[in-house]
Parts: sequence; C-alpha cells; structure tokens
Amino acid sequence: MVTQDFPPEYGGIQTYSYEHARRLYGQCGWFGLICPDKPGAPAVDEGLDFPVYRIKTRNELLILPLLRKLPGLLTEHSVDAMFHSQWQTAAASIRARNRGRIKKVFVAAHIRELLFNPYEKLPGLGRAFERYKKWVLREADHFYPVSDYTAGQLKKLGVEDDRLTVVINGTDPERFHPVDVRELKKELGLGRKKILLTITRLVPRKGIDTVLMALAHIRKEIPDIHHLIVGDGPDRSRLENLAKELSLTEQVTFTGRIPYEMLNRYYNLGDLFVMPSRTRIPDIEGFGIVFLEANSCGLPVIGSDSGGIPSAILHGETGLIIPEGDAGILARETIRLFKDEKRMHKLGDQGRKRVLREANWDVLSARLFTDMKARMNL
Ligand code: GDD
Repeated sequence: MVTQDFPPEYGGIQTYSYEHARRLYGQCGWFGLICPDKPGAPAVDEGLDFPVYRIKTRNELLILPLLRKLPGLLTEHSVDAMFHSQWQTAAASIRARNRGRIKKVFVAAHIRELLFNPYEKLPGLGRAFERYKKWVLREADHFYPVSDYTAGQLKKLGVEDDRLTVVINGTDPERFHPVDVRELKKELGLGRKKILLTITRLVPRKGIDTVLMALAHIRKEIPDIHHLIVGDGPDRSRLENLAKELSLTEQVTFTGRIPYEMLNRYYNLGDLFVMPSRTRIPDIEGFGIVFLEANSCGLPVIGSDSGGIPSAILHGETGLIIPEGDAGILARETIRLFKDEKRMHKLGDQGRKRVLREANWDVLSARLFTDMKARMNL
C-alpha cells in the first residue's frame, strides 16, 4: 500500500489509510506500507505490526521517489498487487505491472486529488501533470471511490463503470462510542450548555462560518446553546474574528487540535454534530468521515448537500442534509431538533446502528480486500 498521507498527521486520507492498512495487513499473506517520513513518525510506526517504509521527501509527491524505491522492494518481497490511497503515486506500480512484476494496480479516490493541479500556474508542468493523470486513470486496473459523488467524478474523467467500485469510508465503533463526559464538560466550563459540535481541520470549505451565522439566530430560541469547534487550521483566525463580529464569543469555544486518544471524549461532549461543507472547486467534501465518528458516538448529524456527504449521512435516518451555505435553514433545523429530543436520540441511535451494521472499517476493509482478490483471480 502506498499513501501520501498517514499519521502522525491527521485528516480524512490519513484516517482512511491507517484504518485500511491495519486491516489489509490482517488479510494479506504479506503487507507493507510506503509513505512519506514526518516528524513523530517512529511513535506511530512502532505501534503497527507491519513494515512501514518511510521515504524522506521535501513535501513533494511520492512519484519519483517511489520509482526509485519500488523495484528494490519488489525484489525483496513477492507482491501480487499495489494499492494506492491516491492516484498520484501510482506511476511506479503501473510500470512494475507492465513489466510483469506485479499483477494489479488498485487506486482509491477521495475527490480533491482528482481535481487539484498543484502546478496549474506553471503552464508546461501543469499540462504534463494533467497528461500524467490521464495516463494513470487509463492504466490503473481498478478504482475504489469513497462515495457515489466521487465515482461520478471518476466517470467524468473517463473511468469506465466496470473499472470502479464504491467502497464508502467507515469508522471504528470501538474507538468512537458513547461515554459519560460530564466531568470534562464541567472542566471546560460548559456545564449544562447544549452543545453544537464540529470536529474538523479548519479550512474554509468546511462551512463553519455558516454555523456561526446560524448560531446568531439559534441562540434567540435556545439561549444555552454553545458551539464547540475542535481542530485547527489556516481558517482559524478568520473564524475567531467572525465569532467576535457576530458577538458570539460567549457562545463559541475553539479548542484547537485534540490528540487522538481524547477525540472520543470530545465527540461525546456534543448533542448535535454539524458540518455544512461548501463546494469550492477543487476543494470538495469526498465523504466526511467525521459524520460517522459522531454517529458512532450516538450523535445525530447535520451536513450539507455538497460533494459526497449524501453517502455519509442518510437523510432522515442518521441525520439531516441541508442546502450548502444556507444559514437560515441550518438555524431552523437545529432549533427543531433541539426542541424534539426524541427525534434527536432516534437519529443518533440509528446512526450508531448503521456504523455497527455497515459503515465500519472491519466490514469495509473486508469488502475492499475481497473485491481486489477476486480481480486477481486469487
Ligand atoms: N486527532 C485529531 N485531532 N483528529 C482530528 C482532528 C483533531 O483535532 N480534527 C479532525 N480530525 C480527524 C477526524 O477524526 C477524521 O478522522 C479526519 O481527521 C477528518 O476526516 P474527514 O472528515 O473525512 O475530512 P478531510 O477533509 O480531512 O478528508 C478528505 O478525505 C476523506 C477521505 O476520503 C475529504 O474529502 C473527506 O470528505 C473524505 O471523507
């Protein structure tokens, strides 16, 4: 398996790669992972049972470094297939397959990486990157998009129906589960507040500004409402200023990044999880693992109709989907939910049941592995 993104950094592709890697290892005869080296990597790798080959990069994509590294690894180990968390790193594997060294090249698809060209402003390099993408999309044996929306984008880019299978993202219900956090709530000074929770990297597309604008209305109906924003990122100071401008500083807490081990407890602080992401091409939500993490803790969720979110939230069953960018509707639906506790609990309950039934990494990784195995005639 090759991934550009892996812990100790956090984010959706990191979670996807970490969770699938641990389970693919359990299903394969031999499994190894290749990813970039990062500060803090040894602490992560020590906890893993399979070999992790960290490649030192200066933040470049693992295209050329992998062309150098892979042939040696394929000599040391007998490998049937390569699985790439992103298409960009697939060149070395396609070359190895074309030379008969491996049988198949499989590629996951999230969304942003399909639409984003880092060399856009450098015409020659930008065009070469697009040609490279077309080649990988044509040559890879099979794609695993994480949502119906991402599958649609792959089709638009020329990938035929029979070369793609949707395997949605999941979560780990043993890691994310209901737990009593009254003490932590008190410590944070949130006492009896009703908590609207968002856990995310703070980037503009996550639509937190829409939540803040909705909050200005919500507090008129629900005076003890509080928005707890967990995570960090480049949009933080803009959001903090917006909260000040809207006179919401008493109603909003920014916790910053929370360590992995604490995340479950922070989810449990919430009464309702919200993340009304916006479409800012190429920045689009491919799925939204955080909705499942919240559901897994028994929280109902509200997201927007942007990108792959409709694959993450079953509207009316595990949460609600509202039109993106609409603070008015978000405020109305939030107020309705807080005034109907029975419905809130039902949505949260059904969310956790869905995670246990079908949206967990154990089930999804087994599906991914079985599908790949069948395609290799193993
Ligand atoms: N430890 C820690 N601390 N983890 C965090 C924090 C934090 O403060 N904030 C967010 N995370 C973790 C969440 O727990 C979750 O597992 C992950 O970072 C965020 O995943 P997504 O909600 O899926 O969003 P993304 O934008 O980073 O990921 C992209 O790829 C995903 C994978 O396919 C998007 O396209 C997503 O929509 C897509 O699901």
